[in-house]
Amino acid sequence: MIETSTFWHQILDKGVQSLVKSLSDQEIIEMTEHYGTHNYHPAMVNVRAGQGVEVWDGNGKRYLDCIGVYSAMAHGHRNEAILNAVREQLDVLTVASRAVYTSEVALFLKGLAEYCHLDMVCPMNSGAEANETCIKLARKWAYTVKGVPDDQAEIIVCQDNFHGRTTTIIGFSTEKQYRDKFGPYGPGFKVIPFNDLEALEAAITPNTAAFFAEPIQAEGGIIIPEPGYMEKVRKLCTEKNVLLIWDEVQTGFCRTGKRMGWEHEDAKPDLLAVGKPLGGGIMPVSAAVGRKEVMDVFEFGDHGSTFGGNPLGAVVALTAMAQMEVEDFAGQAERKGSRMMKQIADLNLPEVKELRGRGLLLGIEVHEGVDAKKLGHLFLENGIITKQTRHRTFRMTPPIVITDSQIDEAVDKIKQTFSQL
Ligand SMILES: Cc1ncc(COP(=O)(O)O)c(C=O)c1O
Repeated sequence: MIETSTFWHQILDKGVQSLVKSLSDQEIIEMTEHYGTHNYHPAMVNVRAGQGVEVWDGNGKRYLDCIGVYSAMAHGHRNEAILNAVREQLDVLTVASRAVYTSEVALFLKGLAEYCHLDMVCPMNSGAEANETCIKLARKWAYTVKGVPDDQAEIIVCQDNFHGRTTTIIGFSTEKQYRDKFGPYGPGFKVIPFNDLEALEAAITPNTAAFFAEPIQAEGGIIIPEPGYMEKVRKLCTEKNVLLIWDEVQTGFCRTGKRMGWEHEDAKPDLLAVGKPLGGGIMPVSAAVGRKEVMDVFEFGDHGSTFGGNPLGAVVALTAMAQMEVEDFAGQAERKGSRMMKQIADLNLPEVKELRGRGLLLGIEVHEGVDAKKLGHLFLENGIITKQTRHRTFRMTPPIVITDSQIDEAVDKIKQTFSQL
């Protein structure tokens, strides 16, 4: 273990990597568990380096990163174009806050609005913040544009939603663990079943500000709504003068085989929450993006974030979007996702109850009675990093830059893992 007296000196004189190299994986795991809160249950691997889809632990063992930072790692670890953009920017300007104008942030706002086919952007850092921003925008729009009486605005959300872990958001989660012992919860949300248009119609009142949902419930177990659902939701929201907010933090930026998940149908939102891959696998960058009429309700001082909209993040996001666009990440995700899905399906694994997915957002749900914990350990032993969501669904959300041979290798490892159960 490191002496506290030399800790700071070593960092300053020799760099953090000198310390990293001096510690074993076991020491790192112990340090994390000792000093960190236990709100995560990481796989027993200390990731020391990454390149593309591959990561390595301190002993040089190689893994395929099939969780891909919970879908955030679309471009692959240490993507060269993004690293080069960062290097160039580090020599110019990094963080400047919204107290001033910067060229990089201006270009980012334009680029993201156009990428999303919407008008304006409110930059944030995390996905949860992007969603909080959408909630605030929708409420203020309801009071100032729609004419809902003060403090009466309602937002309709779905069962098994996942929009982040802030106090407001967990208040309308239906997952017991996210809610229990964190109340009291904020009012103003109505929960209806996902993929149920009649329930939505019945829940709408004159005070409804918005319907807020994910195009595919990713954390909820990769749940894909029936064809036509998103489009009908869009029509209904327009008819009833209710805003449609898609949370595309996980489905956005090509993961599902389109730029945005809503683009599989004619279901353009009024507000969109984006994050994860917007940060190019380098840093947190998120945003609420929307129609001018809604975004314009924010006035000076209504909302903000010290780091939300900083030049370095802006450059990372611009380069990330440029690469997704020029290298057709959407087409890549579509083609590679089909390849991976077909190959896993062809394994005919008896333990698998259902294989679900769209693009490179895949979930392997195992039957009740299959030892999911053991399966997780075996995946790791065989060099695959993945995690279950909702207990029984193992996600396969590797970086979109995964190669065909890496897909084949991952499928071989999946086969081997199930055979060892
Ligand atoms: C759909 C969705 N919304 C919001 C979030 C929260 O994002 P963050 O962890 O960046 O706050 C996630 C994270 O998994 C997500 O999948």
